[in-house]
Amino acid sequence: MPSRKNTTPLGPIRKFTITEEKATFRSRQGTLDVVFLKDDVVRLRAVKKGQNEPDRSFAVIPTGWDKPETRITVRGDSVILATSNLSVRISLKTGRIRILSADRTDLFRNAEIAWSGAGVGLIWKMPKDRHIYGTGERTGPLDKRGTRMAYWNTDRSGYPVEQDPLYQSIPFALCMDGPRAHGFFFDNTFRQDWEFSPLGKTKAKMTADDGALDLYVMASGTPSAVLERWTELTGRMSLPPLWALGYQQCKWSYYPESVVRDIADQFRQRSIPCDVIYLDIDYMDAYKDFTWHPERFPDPPKLVSDLRDQGFRTVVMLDPGVKVEEGYDVYETLKQAGFVVRNADGTPFIGPVWPGDCLFPDFTDAACREWWGKWYKGLLDLGVAGFWNDMNEPAVFDAPGHSLPLDAVFSGDGYPGDHRRFHNIYGMQMVRGTTEGLRALRPDQRHFVLTRAAYAGTQRYAAAWTGDNCSDWPSLRISIPMLLNFGLSGQAFCGPDIGGFAGTATPELFARWLQVGALYPFCRTHYAAAPQSGHPDINAVPTQEPWSYGDEWEEINRASLELRYKLLPYLYTVFEEITRTGMPVMRPLFLQYPDDPKTACIEDEFLIGSDLLCAPILDEGRYSRELYLPKGLWYDYWSGECLEGGRKITASAPIDVLPLFARAGSAIPTQDVVQHTREAVNKPIVWQVWPDSGFKAIGTLYEDDGETLAYTRGDFKRTTLTLSGTKENPETSLQHEGGYTGRPQEIVIAA
Ligand code: NOJ
Repeated sequence: MPSRKNTTPLGPIRKFTITEEKATFRSRQGTLDVVFLKDDVVRLRAVKKGQNEPDRSFAVIPTGWDKPETRITVRGDSVILATSNLSVRISLKTGRIRILSADRTDLFRNAEIAWSGAGVGLIWKMPKDRHIYGTGERTGPLDKRGTRMAYWNTDRSGYPVEQDPLYQSIPFALCMDGPRAHGFFFDNTFRQDWEFSPLGKTKAKMTADDGALDLYVMASGTPSAVLERWTELTGRMSLPPLWALGYQQCKWSYYPESVVRDIADQFRQRSIPCDVIYLDIDYMDAYKDFTWHPERFPDPPKLVSDLRDQGFRTVVMLDPGVKVEEGYDVYETLKQAGFVVRNADGTPFIGPVWPGDCLFPDFTDAACREWWGKWYKGLLDLGVAGFWNDMNEPAVFDAPGHSLPLDAVFSGDGYPGDHRRFHNIYGMQMVRGTTEGLRALRPDQRHFVLTRAAYAGTQRYAAAWTGDNCSDWPSLRISIPMLLNFGLSGQAFCGPDIGGFAGTATPELFARWLQVGALYPFCRTHYAAAPQSGHPDINAVPTQEPWSYGDEWEEINRASLELRYKLLPYLYTVFEEITRTGMPVMRPLFLQYPDDPKTACIEDEFLIGSDLLCAPILDEGRYSRELYLPKGLWYDYWSGECLEGGRKITASAPIDVLPLFARAGSAIPTQDVVQHTREAVNKPIVWQVWPDSGFKAIGTLYEDDGETLAYTRGDFKRTTLTLSGTKENPETSLQHEGGYTGRPQEIVIAA
């Protein structure tokens, strides 16, 4: 475990000053500022003496929070700063810190800020039974007690289920002490390392390789309130276009055009719902961004428009590396403008990715982001609907650390720095350029951008997938805690490659994966079968489409996707909720039931919204499973059987069944199966109403045009359905809000 050796602590405070804005504590070693941002949010920022660290954040956005009233008390050798919800006590004798919530839970006890070389860290003590969640994109268990983790965006193709770190860095933790929640965020873009002792022990430590100790603590009581604060601080995803909630089919790579057309035709002929087809790198000419391969894709506008007529949107890939090639306009304009990542000696860095030698745009420069964003015009004009930004850790082939040199130089929008500082935000700034460009080009349209690398707050710009996983059962199993922690970290629009990216899924693995995948927030199958993907013979790589495994499996896979399309009105309603509250789509049970200690470590079940509980099959050859139903009544979604919660049950799960339960007291808006989202426009909404023991139920439906920002101007419809009365004489009322017309509605009462 962490030791305090070889570090220099903040130490005794020699002077402190308190102003309206902040309290400042100075020791021989450094300075600590304490600022209350809200009655339940405090920021602690410490810099070493002589360190000139810019106070700027890529993650934090203006919140509009009112500054809280703060009381200051000097007691013995301590200064106590407190609001009604939170207190920070600094010992003048030692410089150690204690942070308490209003109910006197120790959030940070005996916390010591310390420096070691350029690095900075915090060591503290925590209660033995605290659970820790979030921490961004992580393999491993849902509860992060007893784990070490790093924050350094890493491309690791075909990663094992123990891999750490992965592609994204979100240094935020949601902590649970019994039912009470708090969160903390260490806002520092350098490499970080965290270590939490196992349950039963008390030590905790986090360090960063350089920069400031910039810590935000949110003591909001319930986990949902913490997530609300966290997503106010770093932003929320905006409402995606409805089509992006549909099923998405991807392969590295579908080409030439005839193959893409064939895939589209197969979906429609076989009546398997799908909204999106992806073009991976091989659609480009020599992997040059914003080009098309002239032979493979001779007429892109026609292809994209024909796909659109069949109800498919096209999403294409763009990588950060810009091929060095005289006369290639993207390269020429980039070279001329000069906003590129540079070597320490000031020359442009050149390194290989798919196209061979590349320049790397310096996305930390606003002018570069603007330049990058404008290139999307051509793709938008020809009808491409969404954009996939990959390799943006950034990955550099044959390079030490598989990325840019650590001393490579970035402009940093006026705060220049090296790759150590900017590595973890490179991908975020890339998708920022993409999304801001798209918003400038089509201001009233919603956009879909998918990213592999990210830092805290990236949900403002893009959805995320979990990179190059494997086609095996353990990878399916970890997808659940991974997505749950991702959602708790602010990135709610996330999913893994269904069926696995590397390797070959058996029919059973694919079927079970698609069953649960149909409820992932981001629902995409993707797999590798490309010359560069390491397969000895790509023609021998079995395909991974829903029909790839024979008729029986096709029927099962079709049914999985049909469930997603039936539930889309509910899913869309849950997505709209995130944009207002920060509550993720896919929720661990403890988030809805924090008072129930049995939910704390459940990582093989989850809730979609608050009303549907899914307990997928995650093992080969398993046709039933044990699961925990939280307190209350639950209905088996398929049989309608009403079950008592607060206990474990065994659910039967033949190969074509996904164990799924509806909360009694809920009303879930659904629709009949459609083949793609646009087909649903005039079809009725079908409310599935699941009465509780008092024959009551309530549910919400959110509708709008699914494409534009008209909803922000009041053009939406929110319907609340309320059930009362008795089984013999049910009464339902529908209340509407907003100016959108909406679809006709039918009501079906279970039981
Ligand atoms: C790496 C990505 O993670 C993967 O999804 C993609 O297929 C390949 N790059 C090729 O573009």
